[in-house]
Amino acid sequence: MPKTIIVSNRLPVKISKTDDEYSLSSSEGGLATGLGSIYKQDNNVWIGWPGVEIADQDDKDKVSQQLKELSLIPVFLDQEEINQYYEGFSNEVLWPVFHYYSSTYASYKQSNWDYYQAVNKKFRDVILSVAEPGDVIWVHDYQLLLLPALVRHDLPDVSIGFFLHIPFPSHEMFRLIPWRSELLDGMLGADLIGFHTFDDVRHFLGTTSRILPVTTSSNIITTGERSIVVESFPMGIDEKKYASLPLQDDVKEQAQLIKDNFKSTKLILSVDRLDYSKGILQRLQAFELLLQLCPECIGTIALYMIVVPSRDTVPQYAHLRDEIDKKVGNINSIYRTMDWSPIHYYYRSFPIETLSALYATADVCLVTPMRDGMNLVSKEYVASRVNNDGVLIMSEMAGSSKELIDAIIVNPNNTGEVCRAILQAINMPPEEQRKRMIPMRQLVAKFNISHWVKIFMDRLKEVKLMQRSMQ
Ligand code: UDP
Ligand code: G6P
Repeated sequence: MPKTIIVSNRLPVKISKTDDEYSLSSSEGGLATGLGSIYKQDNNVWIGWPGVEIADQDDKDKVSQQLKELSLIPVFLDQEEINQYYEGFSNEVLWPVFHYYSSTYASYKQSNWDYYQAVNKKFRDVILSVAEPGDVIWVHDYQLLLLPALVRHDLPDVSIGFFLHIPFPSHEMFRLIPWRSELLDGMLGADLIGFHTFDDVRHFLGTTSRILPVTTSSNIITTGERSIVVESFPMGIDEKKYASLPLQDDVKEQAQLIKDNFKSTKLILSVDRLDYSKGILQRLQAFELLLQLCPECIGTIALYMIVVPSRDTVPQYAHLRDEIDKKVGNINSIYRTMDWSPIHYYYRSFPIETLSALYATADVCLVTPMRDGMNLVSKEYVASRVNNDGVLIMSEMAGSSKELIDAIIVNPNNTGEVCRAILQAINMPPEEQRKRMIPMRQLVAKFNISHWVKIFMDRLKEVKLMQRSMQ
């Protein structure tokens, strides 16, 4: 039976070594958490990097065996590949440029590009070693932009889908990259290219027609003999899981503990990976302004801020961590009282049960990225509000703001606006909370992760049929 081969840089589980044992734990990040809950259907496999360098061949074999039981196939990267392909090109060129941070953070090094090409080829080789006739290959995200064309070269007729989980920038940003044509050529190896939002589609079509000698008509790009379809597919979450977790006894217990600890305090929750694109410092600034301007807030509100460690070997991330530490320390030292702290800051990841208890308990969820492809945290909060209460504050720069239109939508650069939104949220009457939350919950339930996979895969089949009928 044909299978779907999912390919992404990071596998949905990561490996860590304790003493002589390798243990597996869930990866963070929207791609892994979103697809991670459904990829095991049918006889699908997922190819990707297990998150650490494993040098010894016996260890590689052991880990491969452990992963095989989960239908996962590892691509092992050595330290230099991690430094240059993952940290260097993916996270010091593509991530900042695609999130509109090119002038501050992007650095274009030839050796990073060389490694990016070489590692994309390494992924191709692993795909070729497992692909069988009839299989569908679904490549994900910015670390593997060259992969669709590399696979197409060896398997000219295979179905290839590509999905970008981060924003696609405007031509003015993308053109800055020295290897812009090669990157676009790589993506065009796919039959169907998906983005979270229509704006990303528009940017991609505009950029491609300016940079490459292709013709574009509506959402179809034609290059040589091939036609490629470009569309938006807003990613969903495993809504059922998030809606049922708060009903579990262990989650209820944790939620009760949180309620007991924050009895007369309105709890404002924020959950992000450590990333400058998430607007964490700007959010802290808005919270500080609120404490300055609203004396009644002292002792009655608290920000529960989870920052999940991410890419901390990339200098900008390490620096951001220091800045957040300083800012949180500063605010707490000024406003803390004997029995109250304004910010409860955690620099670590949490099990899903604890996250669920927090989502279910927090009065407000504050999601203010400067740019975000989708942002699944906002959808997870909505899905967890089984009593239809709670308030979501959402940056207009996140893909999910296009769907969660009943949230309080803010410009994350406007400190005053974010500060007013927090005040509005903590004072929102229960009736208005319900009125906003119910339609958002319906949307998150309907356009869930299974729906997302289905419409992408169905469309890929249609595109393939369309291409064949044109031959
Ligand atoms: N997350 C997690 N552990 C944590 C905190 C968050 O696994 O301790 C998950 C969270 O549930 C969400 C994902 O990390 O599914 C973050 O995805 P999002 O789309 O919001 O942002 P990304 O990290 O992909 O940029
Ligand atoms: C975002 C990206 C993913 C990435 C995740 C975590 O969600 O779109 O591709 O896996 O962040 O980042 P990391 O660098 O740890 O894989």
